Amino acid sequence: MLEIADVHTYYGESHVLHGVSLAVGPGEIVTILGRNGMGKTTLIRSVIGFTPARRGTIRFKGEDITRWPPFRAVEHGMGLVPQGRRVFPSLTVRENLEVAARGNGGRWTLAKVHELFPRLQERAGNRANKLSGGEQQMLAIGRALMTNPDLLLMDEPTEGLAPLLVREVGRVIAELKREGLSILLVEQNLPMALKVADRVHVLSRGQIVYSSTPSELSANHEIQSRYLGV
Ligand SMILES: Nc1ncnc2c1ncn2[C@@H]1O[C@H](COP(=O)(O)OP(=O)(O)O)[C@@H](O)[C@H]1O
Ligand SMILES: [Mg+2]
Repeated sequence: MLEIADVHTYYGESHVLHGVSLAVGPGEIVTILGRNGMGKTTLIRSVIGFTPARRGTIRFKGEDITRWPPFRAVEHGMGLVPQGRRVFPSLTVRENLEVAARGNGGRWTLAKVHELFPRLQERAGNRANKLSGGEQQMLAIGRALMTNPDLLLMDEPTEGLAPLLVREVGRVIAELKREGLSILLVEQNLPMALKVADRVHVLSRGQIVYSSTPSELSANHEIQSRYLGV
């Protein structure tokens, strides 16, 4: 589904990603863990094309998309749930969802998003800036689903959410996996990441320093304390 090979990414002269490689298979959830400032968002930005890799390649569904602009990656089936949600504040909940629809006859429709998030249906006519943090997160996920992606990129979807809502986001991610979606998930919530992931990678200073199954990381307290501050 997604293959990231030896990706180097810069902001101007600042070299942030130093040769990142990883893969996400069909129907898999792959999680990136790491402290703040380690390059997680930069990796997501490189994958979707906001900050293209200067070296290395990104292949998605058989195509080399390394230099594609974001809209083209989305058209090809990549969905993004950005860090900090970034819903359109002055649009209503329904409008936020409708602007994202691609009308490609895919399975995700307004009705199906409402089924997954009944709360969004209740609040369909409200402006997005009136929603709680948890509701905005649901809206950001719903909006990405409206593009009918095969691969979903999620950047810290539980950031700033209360424990109950963290569990709710975890439930939704598990449900999306059952629907067959592939997910590249950035998380700082270790228990949540370990619960949903098929594979985990730890990013430190722009490099993957550890990769394993969730149960191996769960048992590795040295890695947890050295790189995750647990
Ligand atoms: N737009 C930018 N311009 C310059 N440097 C940036 C920019 N965005 C992030 N950085 C730097 O890149 C590094 C990685 O940031 P980021 O990918 O946001 O980390 P994370 O998502 O893991 O917290 C940090 O040192 C950060 O200061
Ligand atoms: Mg980030």
